Amino acid sequence: ARIVVLVSGSGTNLQALLDAIAADPEGYGARIVAVGADRDGIAGLDRAERAGLPTFVCRVKDHATRDEWDRALADATAVYEPDLVVSAGFMKIVGKDFLARFGGRIVNTHPALLPSFPGAHGVRDALAYGVKVTGCTVHFVDDGVDTGPIIAQGVVEVRDEDDEAALHERIKEVERSLLVEVVGRLARHGYRIEGRKVMIP
Ligand code: GRF
Repeated sequence: ARIVVLVSGSGTNLQALLDAIAADPEGYGARIVAVGADRDGIAGLDRAERAGLPTFVCRVKDHATRDEWDRALADATAVYEPDLVVSAGFMKIVGKDFLARFGGRIVNTHPALLPSFPGAHGVRDALAYGVKVTGCTVHFVDDGVDTGPIIAQGVVEVRDEDDEAALHERIKEVERSLLVEVVGRLARHGYRIEGRKVMIP
């Protein structure tokens, strides 16, 4: 399977996928064909370039409207003919054009146990709420914010001494291995989405 990964930051989830594929290029069942971002100068793009991958950047401010940005992102992604798009720390909500082109084939990872704490501050919100366990969710993207069908979740204990950074780092350890496992399974076995259920044979 051909994968395009979208990033906005450090790209450690991207790196986990790159490392898993490098460790077993035949067996993993997928390869990353390009990495896209919504901003320049991020470590995620450096990681892609170090891996010799093509990259593209679509910045909202370079477009007259959000819809035009969304169309540009879809066009740039479509160049690589992905089977799966993996949003790994991509901090923008894709719009109707992107969903029209790739809907049902976009996987996102979120650092909380959805439907709890959706949005850009899932770790901070969980900490502020005082939950005793949180975690991460790998799900398909639909037209909502972090609302698509859930594929897998991982649980992470919250510790009294946690601040946002410490908790997020501990979540990311679980998140990286969950994403690698899920993406490989989807790529090797295919899947069906039936309502809110994801069936992987
Ligand atoms: C991940 O925890 C992701 O769920 C969240 O931001 C983080 C990105 O981390 N949206 P990285 O860029 O993959 O290191």
